Amino acid sequence: MSTFIQRYTARERSNHWIVAIAFILAALSGLALFHPAFFFLVNLFGGGPWARILHPFIGVVMFLFFIAMAVRFWGHNRITPADRQWMKRIGDVVCNRDQGLPEVGKYNAGQKVLFWTMVVSIPVLLLSGIVIWQPWFAPFFPIGLMRLAVVVHALVAWILTLGIVVHIYAAIWVRGTVRAMTRGTVSEAWAKHHHRAWYRQMTGK
Ligand code: HEM
Repeated sequence: MSTFIQRYTARERSNHWIVAIAFILAALSGLALFHPAFFFLVNLFGGGPWARILHPFIGVVMFLFFIAMAVRFWGHNRITPADRQWMKRIGDVVCNRDQGLPEVGKYNAGQKVLFWTMVVSIPVLLLSGIVIWQPWFAPFFPIGLMRLAVVVHALVAWILTLGIVVHIYAAIWVRGTVRAMTRGTVSEAWAKHHHRAWYRQMTGK
């Protein structure tokens, strides 16, 4: 019978899922505004005007809850020399050749890089979004800055979306990971296999 280790508290999980739901809603309403091919998505939000009105508010909710989550997870995402080594051997990681790979702490280098991508891109999305937020803030900014903000907003939104696609894929691909964020626990075998240094720290074994 497998034994389980606590990985996330209920508060951490609620925080994560609020960010995840806000991200999906912001991404869908954003896509609808981005290109006519995705315009049909406005139906999920009560039509074009509502998608346009709700999108920035959803973005602000995502930002605020993301900051709370980032503060919680900050310390576990510092890049170490072992992470650089792990990244150099990413080919072995992907092909499951674990022998000789450095021991991984709570997060591996890939997760950490993604975390810092989120830490940079979400505030950039908020700031560029404020510059183009009609009718509240946009009138205060020169048109040149608004044009730049539109491009930056769309570009960074794509980078973040690609990052989240990788995040979701990895969560599903590494069996036993999703339960960390649903039930809060992972099996000892999972911890030992994927995050051995964290496993030692948690169990003293
Ligand atoms: C929508 C579907 C999503 C799924 C299925 C999902 C799943 C997960 C899972 C299973 C973990 C635990 C990984 C582990 O403990 O090793 C996790 C961690 C995390 N997730 Fe998500 N997630 C989703 C969306 C998001 C979004 C939209 C964001 C942020 C914009 C996000 C940010 C994070 C962060 C920061 C962590 C902790 C990892 C770290 O700090 O390096 N997730 N997610």
